[in-house]
Amino acid sequence: MNQSNKKNLDFIKNSGVNYFLQDSPRNWFESDLRTNSSPKLSKDINIDKSYKIQQIIKKINSFDTPLKNSAKNLVVYDGSLDAKVIFIGEAPGRDEDIQGLPFVGRAGQLLNKMLAAINLKREDVYITNVVNWRPPDNRTPTDDEILQFLPFLQEQIDLINPDFIFLLGGVAAKAILSTPLTLGKLRGYWHNYKSLQLNKTIYTIASYHPSFLLRSPQYKKASWEDLQMLQKKLNEKN
Ligand code: URA
Repeated sequence: MNQSNKKNLDFIKNSGVNYFLQDSPRNWFESDLRTNSSPKLSKDINIDKSYKIQQIIKKINSFDTPLKNSAKNLVVYDGSLDAKVIFIGEAPGRDEDIQGLPFVGRAGQLLNKMLAAINLKREDVYITNVVNWRPPDNRTPTDDEILQFLPFLQEQIDLINPDFIFLLGGVAAKAILSTPLTLGKLRGYWHNYKSLQLNKTIYTIASYHPSFLLRSPQYKKASWEDLQMLQKKLNEKN
């Protein structure tokens, strides 16, 4: 094994990825007895988060991948570092690659409408993708690419520490729920995501990707039902 593969593998192992695809969605709900350190002032937490996200972005930027050869800009996130909900898509497309921001093209416009339908704005949520460079010709990220970028995604989830994750499309579902099951099987109920770092369960929904909804509007009804599940839980929390 060459040095860079070994470093890569160590990084993945250290971030807790020691299994990937399985027959059923991974239920991350396991109790974790780690105790919390003393609470910090929220101002400190924000400074801390801004610094840490920059560190994560630097790490992604210096990660060696052939995707860099064809992409123009690294695309990591948009929205709030204090968000209660993380929306995770697949990978940047053409518009996102040009602007360096996730979900700013046609799919992004639909995502904005989906958010507005449940009284959310982009600034209220954290928006990111599984893969942070645009794949050539917008092809679907490979399983290897998903695995390579997963530790960065997990670090972002740990940093944001959301209450909910909304997975947009099959690639995000595969990455976070570790299953190749279709959205038809996965959508419509809550899954549990458990990080190795956070002492809590993050309620997770897998639903359709806005690009898919643009091509197949007959699935918008199901997507709306999934969004309403999120809205109900958010209202219960407030
Ligand atoms: N599709 C995605 O999955 N992500 C984007 O950022 C844009 C389109």
